Amino acid sequence: MSDSSLTSEQFRRACGQWATGVSIVTTVDKAGKPYGLTMNAVTSLSLNPPMFIACVDNNSDTLGPMRESQVYCINVLTSAQQDLSNRFAKKGDGKFDGVDFAPGVTGAPVLGGALLAIECAVTAVLPGGDHQIMCGEVRRIVANDAPDAAPLLYFGGRYAAVAKP
Ligand SMILES: Cc1cc2nc3c(=O)[nH]c(=O)nc-3n(C[C@H](O)[C@H](O)[C@H](O)COP(=O)(O)O)c2cc1C
Repeated sequence: MSDSSLTSEQFRRACGQWATGVSIVTTVDKAGKPYGLTMNAVTSLSLNPPMFIACVDNNSDTLGPMRESQVYCINVLTSAQQDLSNRFAKKGDGKFDGVDFAPGVTGAPVLGGALLAIECAVTAVLPGGDHQIMCGEVRRIVANDAPDAAPLLYFGGRYAAVAKP
């Protein structure tokens, strides 16, 4: 049973206490047009086979093409890619204009300069409230050439820096 006293605002604020990385999840439609959105509801799922999940809002314009092509790429962002994160957190055409990217092994765009590109083939789509849980088997992982690049983090509704030990 859900908590009927919990407001959306309270739920959002609570979710904000879960510190995450930030990624741009990309896909491509059958005609080869790239799509993508900024996401933090992404996590590893299984070791054998290697799998990730990405939880995509039913209102996302990237969801349809992802369901169509059955592929996606999780581009894990560095702290230098905050502008890119903001760009892909909005709707609209032209998100890829001027962006350094190339199709990966699945055809989904791999973004230049990302910390990691996790290229997946969709194996199941599960309903999850107002989102769809896109389960993907990993086809390839491409790591950044600069392994000590800092990740872009998200905490309390804003970008955050990695605390130095
Ligand atoms: C830090 C951050 C994390 C986000 N995480 C998600 C997410 O996990 N799932 C999701 O569907 N939208 C998420 N969003 C919102 C989408 O990026 C936003 O709704 C975007 O406009 C969707 O674009 P599209 O409709 O072109 O796919 C996030 C936004 C930000 C700024």
